[in-house]
Amino acid sequence: MIEVSDVSQVFSTGSGTVHALSHIDLDVHEGEFVALVGRSGCGKSTLLRTVAGLNHATEGTVTIAGTPVTRPRRDVSFMFQKSALLPWRSVLGNVLFPIQLRGLRRRDYLERAHDLLELVGLAGFEKRRPNELSGGMQQRVSLVRSLITEPEVLLMDEPFSALDALTRTELSEELQRVHMETGTTVVFVTHSVEEAVLLADRVVVLSPRPGRIHTVLPIDAPRPRSLSAEQADEIGRYSGILHDLLMRKELE
Ligand SMILES: Nc1ncnc2c1ncn2[C@@H]1O[C@H](COP(=O)(O)OP(=O)(O)OP(=O)(O)O)[C@@H](O)[C@H]1O
Ligand SMILES: [Mg+2]
Repeated sequence: MIEVSDVSQVFSTGSGTVHALSHIDLDVHEGEFVALVGRSGCGKSTLLRTVAGLNHATEGTVTIAGTPVTRPRRDVSFMFQKSALLPWRSVLGNVLFPIQLRGLRRRDYLERAHDLLELVGLAGFEKRRPNELSGGMQQRVSLVRSLITEPEVLLMDEPFSALDALTRTELSEELQRVHMETGTTVVFVTHSVEEAVLLADRVVVLSPRPGRIHTVLPIDAPRPRSLSAEQADEIGRYSGILHDLLMRKELE
């Protein structure tokens, strides 16, 4: 579904050049969930933005569903750390905003909006404004907004990192459910080892500047996964492996 071929990125800044990515090769299959982890500044956001068409790689190519990515596409949604909801619009108004932007008919998407809101536990909140919601609820709205257009690919850059630990776990479990139900292909950047193990089919570990693929760790635990005591052994084992990897000297 997503093919990243030999992507390198060099940024020129006032004080010189930054080599952010070096020869990245990565294929993400249809319906797969891939997590990207690595130290701060190793190029995770840059790689995601390149896949999104928000950034042009210095070298190499990205294709999605067989066509080269040159700019943001309609079949790809992006979700950031902050929810960026429109404060003057209701929950429903925010969720349907991408539909309006595309000149599609709101009423054709109303049922989907309600179903998705229900899926993330927000049924009954359609008329609320963002400032009446907690941070976790706002990110749920943001998730629904990025899914409303039925994207083939969902790119997420630390979407839950501003939330408290429990809300974060809850949202990860909800995202897992959404992923299992919709089959969307997801690339997800996180600093949380547990979150990566909970969600991902494969975890890609990037080495620091210039970012290269250091290890790809397949997570073969059955789904649905949770951080409950029952699954602690298996999730914990993978988290341990990932933790030890990230603590290695060459990844500092
Ligand atoms: N537009 C830009 N211009 C210049 N340098 C940039 C630009 N975007 C990113 N960089 C540099 O590229 C490197 C990788 O940045 P990036 O934001 O991709 O890292 P990251 O892995 O997402 O970090 P974090 O975990 O802190 O979010 C950093 O050194 C950063 O300063
Ligand atoms: Mg980043």
